Amino acid sequence: MDAIECIKGRRSIRSFTDEPVSHELLEEVIDVARFAPSWKNTQIARYIAVEGAKKEEVAANCFKAWVGNEEMVRKAPMVICLTYVKNRSGFERDGSFSTSKEDRWQNFDAGIAAQTFCLAAHEKGLGTVILGIFDEHEAERVLEIPEDRGVAAFIVIGHHEGNPEAPKRKEVSDLVSYFS
Ligand SMILES: Cc1cc2nc3c(=O)[nH]c(=O)nc-3n(C[C@H](O)[C@H](O)[C@H](O)COP(=O)(O)O)c2cc1C
Repeated sequence: MDAIECIKGRRSIRSFTDEPVSHELLEEVIDVARFAPSWKNTQIARYIAVEGAKKEEVAANCFKAWVGNEEMVRKAPMVICLTYVKNRSGFERDGSFSTSKEDRWQNFDAGIAAQTFCLAAHEKGLGTVILGIFDEHEAERVLEIPEDRGVAAFIVIGHHEGNPEAPKRKEVSDLVSYFS
């Protein structure tokens, strides 16, 4: 699979087989994802793999805003809580913000890490879907996230059969503009 096939062929996968995701395979995915770019190479992304009874607790408490996500997490073999180390990306050494975007580079870096993770998983035959609708404070409580970490997103991951159709994309002409 070349890079273009990987980018265009990755889909958000919302149903999975019962096959567990081995820790070895997950670590192969993270071995690729760690090459994602980051602010001054701060590499703030951290992956918490949640399975078994803790996954049930996450499903029951963190997705009350949308039952679709709750059911997905319940049925999938694993969900990743993508966290980041706070106060590094976008910050100077003295703790001040580097730019007017203040602390928003943290989530930018986490987003790049999330997509890199999902592409690596796709190349290794795993399906993923990023979940943005979740209760951040419940996630912090249930997963005992320390003060110096933020929760960026959840990523459901598992083995799957078939690929859904790609949702319609905008045309290049809708996306690009030139200014000279
Ligand atoms: C930041 C972000 C948050 C998302 N949140 C959810 C979510 O809460 N639940 C869900 O089912 N899909 C979620 N998605 C998946 C999108 O719906 C999906 O990427 C989009 O429809 C395009 O489909 P594709 O990923 O198959 O190309 C999210 C995607 C992103 C990037």
